[in-house]
Amino acid sequence: MKDEHEIKVTLQGVELALGFPDEFSFRWIGQEAVMEQLLAAWMVIDKDDIPLNPRLIGKPGVGKTTLAYAAAKRLKKDVYIYQCTMDTRPEDLLITPVVDKNGGIRYVASSLVTAMIQGGVAILDEANRMSEKAWASLAPLLDTRRYIESIVAGLKVSAHPDFRICVTMNDDASTFEIPEYIHSRLQPQIYLEFPEAEEEKRILKENLPFVDEHIMEYVVNFLQKAHQANESYTIRDGINIARYAAKRLKSLEGKTESPDNLLREAVLMTLGDEALGYVL
Ligand SMILES: Nc1ncnc2c1ncn2[C@@H]1O[C@H](COP(=O)(O)OP(=O)(O)OP(=O)(O)O)[C@@H](O)[C@H]1O
Ligand SMILES: [Mg+2]
Repeated sequence: MKDEHEIKVTLQGVELALGFPDEFSFRWIGQEAVMEQLLAAWMVIDKDDIPLNPRLIGKPGVGKTTLAYAAAKRLKKDVYIYQCTMDTRPEDLLITPVVDKNGGIRYVASSLVTAMIQGGVAILDEANRMSEKAWASLAPLLDTRRYIESIVAGLKVSAHPDFRICVTMNDDASTFEIPEYIHSRLQPQIYLEFPEAEEEKRILKENLPFVDEHIMEYVVNFLQKAHQANESYTIRDGINIARYAAKRLKSLEGKTESPDNLLREAVLMTLGDEALGYVL
């Protein structure tokens, strides 16, 4: 079924099946400075200029993926997200051979290579989970050469001039060190911080427009206290707490004396009892 709609290109005599862009309704709220920094890094200001390959760094859940996606959408570009893992191999990042229904080999471009060909934006998400081997295959793409070389398909693919890339990185422990030669190719580094209370509330509302004000207030208070204590609870945790509390309230059809007890329970069930120290 999908075959009829598959996008194919032929490069150097090799047929490549392309991927599809990611479509979300992510909107960026608040913190305009980081958005401007990212868009500036992607700008091309002269015929001899090339875009930079920025890196978004911050705790889990501060909004790195959302920012990268929303920035690409401001430029009205298609976005291709590649989720990096410890097991990502160079060919996964670039082009994979797949056995087709006639027993032949079909070459399938990754979301990264699709973005390079289509002139879209590639987001390498949680890129610091990748091993050095995977990174090495990206070295020529991330400097002035702007191409990749697929050994499996025997192809060299140059990036479309409109192609942009950005990588997101967590500063948690479950990650590899990135090699120095890659480090220098992923600049500038844009640091994301947790938002202020007002902004955090707007973000929660954007994500959960159907959840009532009292739940939002409670969750924002909880998150702000946790941020102040340098705890790593995030907006995503807040969204989960609020979402569960709202469902629980609904399931009880209003038959509860104390929504705050439900919220407390939602915090406990989402983050465990250490988190209860930050509830009112
Ligand atoms: N400024 C913001 N505007 C809109 N939504 C936001 C913002 N910051 C965070 N969010 C929301 O918070 C949640 C987490 O954001 P996101 O997934 O972008 O974080 P992340 O930094 O990529 O996390 P991870 O490191 O776990 O991948 C999402 O639901 C997102 O919609
Ligand atoms: Mg992310």
